[in-house]
Amino acid sequence: MRKVTLKMIYEHPITQKYVRRSGMAHAISVAYHAFRLAKDYDVNPDWAVKAGFLHDIGHYEWYQDGEWDYSQYRNYDIHPIKGAERAHKLLVRLGEDKRAAKEISHAVLFHTDSALPEGNYELNSLQKVVHLADERDKQPGDFHHYRNINQEKEVRLIEELDQKIENYLAEKNRDVSKNG
Ligand SMILES: [Fe+2]
Ligand SMILES: [Fe+2]
Repeated sequence: MRKVTLKMIYEHPITQKYVRRSGMAHAISVAYHAFRLAKDYDVNPDWAVKAGFLHDIGHYEWYQDGEWDYSQYRNYDIHPIKGAERAHKLLVRLGEDKRAAKEISHAVLFHTDSALPEGNYELNSLQKVVHLADERDKQPGDFHHYRNINQEKEVRLIEELDQKIENYLAEKNRDVSKNG
């Protein structure tokens, strides 16, 4: 059993405030992509899903005269940095395993290079999975941040993903005990 479920993260007021700001539908969709990619990259699907779900929790609202200002966003945004810190604090408060909280927070930090210095980075598998999952859900005009689904559907999708993770981990445990 995991200490912290995706549903616990979803229901937290911090998540409702900040993940909803950058798009709950986008967060859930990236979490699903991350779950699928986790298998290909052999990373812990629980960490991949949580990092995928929380990757944009650091978003700030860039408004100029009531309109979203993309040039300000592109020039001044540090959402991966803010997000890594917010995700870490939230997970630790919820009682997450400390190593998991650190790895998930790092994956949030590296999901995009927009706030990093120039250069090539060697991403680990979890970080790659979260980056690719985000790329898969991106839409032209940053529309992915504005897509909406109703809250009942959000909860259903979150619960289903929690169940998929539990099933995957249970199966893995069975294999481990079978093979000694
Ligand atoms: Fe992002
Ligand atoms: Fe994103």
